Amino acid sequence: MPVLLPPALRPFLDLLRCPACRTRRLRADRGALRCTAGHTFDIARHGYAGLLTGTRATSGDDAAMARARDRFLATGTYEPLRRTVARLAAGAVPQRGGTVLDAGCGTGYYLSGVLDRLPAARGLGLDTSVRALRSAARAHDRAAAATWDVFRPFPLADAVADVVLDVFAPRNPAEFHRVLRPAGRLVVVRPTARHLAELRGRIPAMVTVDPHKEQRLHRALAPFFRAAVTEQVEYPVSLTGPQVRDLLAMTPSAHHVTGADLTGDGLLPGRVTVSVLATAYRPHRGGEENGLAPHAT
Ligand SMILES: C[S@@+](CC[C@H](N)C(=O)[O-])C[C@H]1O[C@@H](n2cnc3c(N)ncnc32)[C@H](O)[C@@H]1O
Ligand SMILES: [Zn+2]
Repeated sequence: MPVLLPPALRPFLDLLRCPACRTRRLRADRGALRCTAGHTFDIARHGYAGLLTGTRATSGDDAAMARARDRFLATGTYEPLRRTVARLAAGAVPQRGGTVLDAGCGTGYYLSGVLDRLPAARGLGLDTSVRALRSAARAHDRAAAATWDVFRPFPLADAVADVVLDVFAPRNPAEFHRVLRPAGRLVVVRPTARHLAELRGRIPAMVTVDPHKEQRLHRALAPFFRAAVTEQVEYPVSLTGPQVRDLLAMTPSAHHVTGADLTGDGLLPGRVTVSVLATAYRPHRGGEENGLAPHAT
């Protein structure tokens, strides 16, 4: 039996463009999205659209990381971050309607928080991780989800989004700029050097925060955006052993942490600092398509 078009995807049909020919619109037809040239993209039975076809994604979370993220975020530990993201996003969204794009949406945790705050907005989460998208497609009844690699040109028309979210995820400044409306905002969340510092002290294999990260971020975004407001969110949390394990398993550290790390002191419960910067950026008018390379986290 063909998969039905998820209701949250329907309002995006006008905004999506065929990923293969880039210009044509997509229409829903027998469990798939098709363009008039015959390019076809399946809708997974888990509710996300499979727009990334044919090529391997450059990066993305595996199933174990996505499951750990689901479990950890369900503890509410990052709820203050989610509230900050929602507040920053809300400033750019019209009272009626509004379109929110979440690049590297993961399980849809932040997108759903933003949509909760904006009762008339619709959201689309893009990610390469199909396991994460299974959760994202269920995260909110106004959130659609699709496979996409943020380092490729987005399968979206120009100037369609009021907000682009980028929370701990890879960035493509030129595409963020292209798909944002002139009055829209880009909201970027990234860790400071103090984020989870206590865990980093205990587990040497954990990926460290690049001390030049802020400079790199600024350099990559400056041709397209200017910062309007930056908020620092920092607070201590007390974590249980399983929560520490999930926190490690959902970060890039998951690939570096060894069996010895996982059986040692690193997984003991304890107090850990959460410390991030959240910035809302306004797009420059016209942008400067200067060929800058996409920017990884
Ligand atoms: C650290 S997680 C953050 C997820 C989510 N924003 C959150 O904070 O819960 C990074 C996310 O980016 C996704 N990702 C990595 N590389 C990507 C790429 N090239 N294109 C799209 N998503 C990507 C991963 O699959 C993962 O879901
Ligand atoms: Zn096409």
